[in-house]
Parts: sequence; structure tokens; C-alpha cells
Amino acid sequence: MSNILRHLAIIMDGNGRWANERGLRRTKGHEAGAEVVREITKYCVNHTEIETLTLYAFSTENWKRPKVEVDFLMHLLEKYLSKELDTYMQNGIRFDVIGDISPFSSKLKDTIQKTKELTKDNHKLTQLLALNYGSRDEIVRAVKRCIDNGVEITQENISKSLDTPYSDIDLLIRTSGEQRLSNFLLWQMSYAEMFFTDTYWPDFTTTELGDIIDKFKQRDRKFGGI
Ligand code: IPE
Ligand code: IPE
Ligand code: MG
Repeated sequence: MSNILRHLAIIMDGNGRWANERGLRRTKGHEAGAEVVREITKYCVNHTEIETLTLYAFSTENWKRPKVEVDFLMHLLEKYLSKELDTYMQNGIRFDVIGDISPFSSKLKDTIQKTKELTKDNHKLTQLLALNYGSRDEIVRAVKRCIDNGVEITQENISKSLDTPYSDIDLLIRTSGEQRLSNFLLWQMSYAEMFFTDTYWPDFTTTELGDIIDKFKQRDRKFGGI
């Protein structure tokens, strides 16, 4: 029996290096990366098993970058969401967010809220964007929610109180050759299968994704059993 892939998570890394190697500004890499998000998302819509695609777009640590780059990323996100609404609607994609978006501008928060609202009845795929996301931050917020609601601290209750009460991650992919998690979904990845590719995110294709999924299918997931 091959593994079922319900929840795919991707650390979209390497935009800056992709651009630098072409003598372009880092921001050009982010723009090229946004195009890939659309293609990969559509592929996941058409994949019969995938229910949720979670994409790491901005970490709680990414605020350390120069202000111009942070501002550019916020602007790009706003532009992307407005432009992609048609794609979400035509392909049955529900859009949702994990992370703490409270520090974002009101304009961006409005766009996020509207996109969530307009796509909430779409059922083919949930695209979860991780925005100002840090796994430790999410776990702390989940534990606080349990305490505030007088709920007992158990694994199940913490899982339910996370930003993603969806499902554990089956497959994690990180592009660009880095082999680390960078504070992404630490709780939900307890038993995820991981794949690291040297391809920079703007060069990542649906063909490569398909190859990785084929390999994932053959992995022996044991969850502690024999
Ligand atoms: C990933 O690409 C995108 C974000 C973190 C927003 P990077 O910007 O980290 O690209 P590299 O790692 O510097 O090449
Ligand atoms: C992780 O990439 C965050 C995103 C892809 C959004 P980084 O490029 O920020 O991670 P580090 O700093 O190399 O670990
Ligand atoms: Mg990086």
C-alpha cells in the first residue's frame, strides 16, 4: 500500500539566490516565486488526494530583513491575493492563513479577510499561507488559548487550538538546498516525510513535484510501529 498524501507543506526558499545568480535584484526572485505558487497550487487542485497545501511565505524571523525587502514582500502579497481571486474561484480553492497577521497593514489585513470570506465555500483544495508564521509562536498561542478557555492541556487539545486545526503534515518539501525547518510547523511535522531539493523556488516545477510525490509514495512510514 502506498502512502496517502493529504497535506503537503512547502518551504519556498531560494528566491534571493535565484535572482542574484541572474544579476537581478532579490525582489525579482520574489516576483518569479509568486508565479510558481500559482502553478503548484493548480497542480494540487488536480491531485486527487491532496486536501491542504501549506506554503511558508513569511516567517516571524523574516522581519529581520531590510525594511525595503519586507515592504516589497507585503506589497507583493497584497497584489498576489487581489490578482489571484479569479484563480481561487475558478479552481475551487479555499484560501486561509496561519500565523499572526495582527502587525500587517489594515489594507493587507482587509484583503486577506476578504479573500478568506469569498473563498470559504470552495472545496477542492485549501491553500494555507503561512504569514508572519513561527511554529513556536503558534504553539505558545495555542497553549494560551487552552488556558483561556479552561481546556485541559493535552496533545489533542493543543492540536485543536493551533492555527491549523487541519491535519498533520504528510510531506514536507524545502527548495534551495537548505536542510532545516526554520521554525515551520514543528508540532504538525512530528511524522512528516521530508524532501530537500537543490532547486531554487522560482525554478521549481510541477514535474519535480510529481517526482517527489512518487518517491514519497514509496517511503515506509511506520509511525513508531514495525
Ligand atoms: C524565500 O526566499 C522567500 C522568503 C523567505 C520570503 P529567500 O528570500 O529566503 O531566498 P534566499 O534564501 O535568500 O535565496
Ligand atoms: C524560511 O526561509 C521562511 C520562508 C520560506 C518564508 P528563510 O530563508 O527565511 O530561512 P533561513 O533564514 O534560511 O533559515
Ligand atoms: Mg532563504
